[in-house]
Parts: sequence; C-alpha cells; structure tokens
Amino acid sequence: MRIQKYIADAGICSRRKAEDMILDGLVKVNEETLTELGYQMQENDVVEVSGQVISAPEKKVYYLMYKPRGYVTTVKDQFDRPCVMDLIGEDVKERIYPAGRLDYHTEGLLILSNDGAFVNAITHPKHHIEKKYLAVVNGIIKEEAVEKLKRGVVIDGKKTAPAKVFLSEIFKDKCLVEIAICEGRNRQVRKMFEAVGHRVLELKRVQIGPIEIGSLKEGRIRKLNPNEVQALLSLAGK
Ligand code: URA
Repeated sequence: MRIQKYIADAGICSRRKAEDMILDGLVKVNEETLTELGYQMQENDVVEVSGQVISAPEKKVYYLMYKPRGYVTTVKDQFDRPCVMDLIGEDVKERIYPAGRLDYHTEGLLILSNDGAFVNAITHPKHHIEKKYLAVVNGIIKEEAVEKLKRGVVIDGKKTAPAKVFLSEIFKDKCLVEIAICEGRNRQVRKMFEAVGHRVLELKRVQIGPIEIGSLKEGRIRKLNPNEVQALLSLAGK
C-alpha cells in the first residue's frame, strides 16, 4: 500500500491532503522524512505525521445482521433504547457501523462495515440499490392500490420512484405484501402504505441488492464474503 493511502485509511486526512503533507516534509517513516509520493509501506513501518505516530488503519470488514424489532440503528440512542451495536460480539474488533437505517419497529437485513467508501456507495440514493421488504398491512389491499404503489405515491410532498409490489398472502383482516424499492427515504414503506390507506403492522427487510436474509437468525451477524461485497459494489457502479 502506498503511504498516502495508508494515512488516509488511518483516518488522518484525505489521500490528496496526505500527498501535500508528504511534499511539505511533514511525514516520516521510521524517523526518516519522506521526500517523494511513491513510498510503498513495509510491514512494521512506523509512520509519523506532523510529529505524531499514527496507528495502522483498520482492516476493512463487512457484515450482515438480522436486526430484531425493538432496536435502533443509530450508534447511540438519546432515549437509551437497545441499539444494534449491542448485538455485536467482542470478536468484532473493528469499529463497524450500519449502512443506512431501519426503524426501531422494523426487523431484517442490515449491512455494517468500517469501510466508509463502501457504505457511501451502497447507501447513496443515486445508485438505486433495490431493497425488498415483507409488509403485513391491515385490511386487504386492492389491486388498484397495488398499482398505485407500483407507479409511485406522494409522500412528504414528493412522488416515490417506481416500485415492485406483490400481494403475497391474504389473512382474515390483514395481508402480506412484498415490496421492493430503490430509494431509502425516511419510513418510506410505512408512508407509502399510509398513502393508499393501509397501516403497516409488521415490516421486515429480506433483501438488499443480491444479498438475501437466508437462514440468518434474528439478532445474529455473519461476514459478507468477498463476492457479496463485490456484487454490491458492482451494483453501485464501483
Ligand atoms: N421503510 C420503512 O418504513 N421503515 C424502515 O425501517 C425501512 C423502510
């Protein structure tokens, strides 16, 4: 790894700024001031930036969690409610954080990572990564409402993008609807159903891009394999 990437990955500054600092003579490796940008890091190198020894950047890690209902996805909650970070065991040493959010009452798939570029890529609305949900809603939804949801409904003053919607099962006084959206607006699925006169009783995210919840148990996490990470990045055009 080149020194400027090492400094950026350690969270000191951007790669560009690190290059400027090297050229300004502010970076030392093993007590020698660097003068050029091409230095390739060797194992056990000690790097100083402006006189401070910096810690090695964390290895990038990628996880999938089955978030249970009744947890917040913020790293800390002002009301002290349970937080998904409480479900991460001590074997995960890296400082991972959730990519996007799920409401307190929503369960299902959540991706966590310490790779900021990856998190930005897969959560940025312009990359349109599809997220699939199972929603149990009150009443029996009519075909007309399903069509409206597919075309887009106005929530918070703006029309939602086209969605995939499928009435999957009918119970006595409620029904199960599969809905896949590419945006990630605040409480979007709940608000979309409200817009067509239905209240969401239960909501579960079962798929993000090509990643499905599969047999992952509630409250558990597993590592994403490199192919899954790559597949998500490809979807985001990276
Ligand atoms: N839509 C919602 O309404 N809530 C979520 O948690 C996710 C999508």
